[in-house]
Amino acid sequence: MFTELVRRARSYRRFDEADRVTEGELRELINVARLAPSGGNMQTLRFRLLWTAEDCAALFACVAWAGYLKDWPGPAEGERPTAYIGIVGTDECNVNTGIAAQTIQLAAAEMGIGACMIGSFNRTAAREALRVPEELKLQLIIALGRPAETIVLEDIRASESIEYYRDESDVHHVPKIVAADLILGRERE
Ligand SMILES: Cc1cc2nc3c(=O)[nH]c(=O)nc-3n(C[C@H](O)[C@H](O)[C@H](O)COP(=O)(O)O)c2cc1C
Repeated sequence: MFTELVRRARSYRRFDEADRVTEGELRELINVARLAPSGGNMQTLRFRLLWTAEDCAALFACVAWAGYLKDWPGPAEGERPTAYIGIVGTDECNVNTGIAAQTIQLAAAEMGIGACMIGSFNRTAAREALRVPEELKLQLIIALGRPAETIVLEDIRASESIEYYRDESDVHHVPKIVAADLILGRERE
């Protein structure tokens, strides 16, 4: 069921570093992403794939994790991403990038791979780590790995806090606003 896949395609930030994502799996993800729609069917996005421990360590140093978890500095050694996809393009079209990124995240979930889109990174350092060609812009990074955390979705009303949190068992909770509060004119249901 598609809804179940969407539910599973969470933002994972802790991974099993012993079970690395392979170059072949990354290529499979791009083979799905290439089928996604783009404005005017221009297909201007390009993808840099990183999967070696050395390349991953270099990019890890450039990215910021989970802004709401103030006491968590990001994944510890042993639970860091084992692959990354850098989405680059000629323009700043966020819509095309978003469609490609979510298509990759859904395909990854289907393959048992966890993903986290990362928009908060050191631009200069990340460009270098991803070897982004001079003429292209780095739009978004996707961190990938075999999931090593439990994530639970929580239904909330629009008036409640949207900040994700971890409980005493280290389970990650992600609040999602109920449909009635998202559809204009149905707020009173
Ligand atoms: C455009 C975009 C940028 C994001 N940037 C970051 C980021 O820099 N660091 C991070 O830890 N998570 C990042 N995330 C993940 C969001 O925090 C996450 O989607 C949100 O907490 C909801 O969790 P969920 O994806 O499991 O539904 C980003 C997500 C999107 C869509």
